[in-house]
Amino acid sequence: MLNLIDRLSKIKLPIFANFEVYFDLGTSVTKIAIKDKGLILREATYLGLNQKTKEFLFFGNEAKSILGKTPDFIKIIRPVVSGVISDFDAEVALINKFLEKSVNLYFSTSWFKPALRGIAVTPTIATEIEQKAVQEALYKAGLSQVYVVEKAMATAAGCGVNVFSHQPTLIADLGGGLIELSIIGSGGIIAQRTLRQAGDHMNKVIYNYIYLKYGVILGESTCEDLKKTLLNFLMDEKTATIRGKSLESGLPKTVRVKSSDIKEALLTIFNQIVDSMKELIESAAPEIVDEVMKRGVILTGGLSNIPGLDKFIATEIKMDVATSPGLEYATVNGLAKLAQREDEFSKLIIL
Ligand SMILES: Nc1ncnc2c1ncn2[C@@H]1O[C@H](COP(=O)(O)OP(=O)(O)OP(=O)(O)O)[C@@H](O)[C@H]1O
Ligand SMILES: [Mg+2]
Repeated sequence: MLNLIDRLSKIKLPIFANFEVYFDLGTSVTKIAIKDKGLILREATYLGLNQKTKEFLFFGNEAKSILGKTPDFIKIIRPVVSGVISDFDAEVALINKFLEKSVNLYFSTSWFKPALRGIAVTPTIATEIEQKAVQEALYKAGLSQVYVVEKAMATAAGCGVNVFSHQPTLIADLGGGLIELSIIGSGGIIAQRTLRQAGDHMNKVIYNYIYLKYGVILGESTCEDLKKTLLNFLMDEKTATIRGKSLESGLPKTVRVKSSDIKEALLTIFNQIVDSMKELIESAAPEIVDEVMKRGVILTGGLSNIPGLDKFIATEIKMDVATSPGLEYATVNGLAKLAQREDEFSKLIIL
């Protein structure tokens, strides 16, 4: 009987024959979508490891929420750094947990589990070994077939760009681990600039700034919250009262931080992003520059939530800049969109 069930479970039933799962294993946020349903999971790319038992205890948003508050034997791990897997076993454990919380719920009442086809992305700067690590992690998590596509292509498609069109478009993906500036067209990446000074790095810069200016030590999550709540390019001066640890006494100290503080701390990085964008445009052929000028720049990724950032960049580069709707899911949505047309999609597979 068991044998029969086992054999039946391997039969691909028509409705599940194409059961596809799309993965954006982002540095800050993991996004998972499935065919015809869209986004089904969005969780922080964090885990909590019990260093005594070597067991992973906390996953995703829960692990992120306890950052800095755990006993010493619990270590918070970030398995993806600058867009690539840096801790393979932790990433496999995280994917397993996330699949359990999302995709697997669809089959919890059925006695068979369909073969799952996974499609994931890697940034263009990923080496072949780093691309293979993503594929291998998904195989280990139980996927039966895994394909990898360049992230910038999926993100562009998710922003509504026809990546096979001969009119190039400039997409700026402003994420947690990487800033990827890409000119996309004719089914490929025409030119690209990548910076590691992305959302995570900005949190560290805020930490240093507050430490030097106010003599207060803050936690990583507080620095990220300050960036999300105070930073804007609209001259909208907000303030936040936060408590950290005094550098002098080691005791709690309360300070009022302003939007202008965060902007001052991060302005150099935003100017670097703008400079890279200018360099990218200047390095392109005249025909491409003309098309990019006509179509403008599309901003996506978590940092494009910063109010007024589009206008700030537009003024600096003297071009239209638009923020893509649904910007935080552009990459997985783009994978779903691209995979609809198998003939075209096969041209984008890098692994
Ligand atoms: N409203 C906001 N203001 C400022 N920053 C924000 C806001 N919302 C999200 N972010 C930042 O965006 C980043 C996460 O963006 P995103 O989800 O695109 O990253 P990711 O896909 O995980 O990273 P990557 O693609 O670089 O591997 C984090 O640094 C987060 O702090
Ligand atoms: Mg991303």
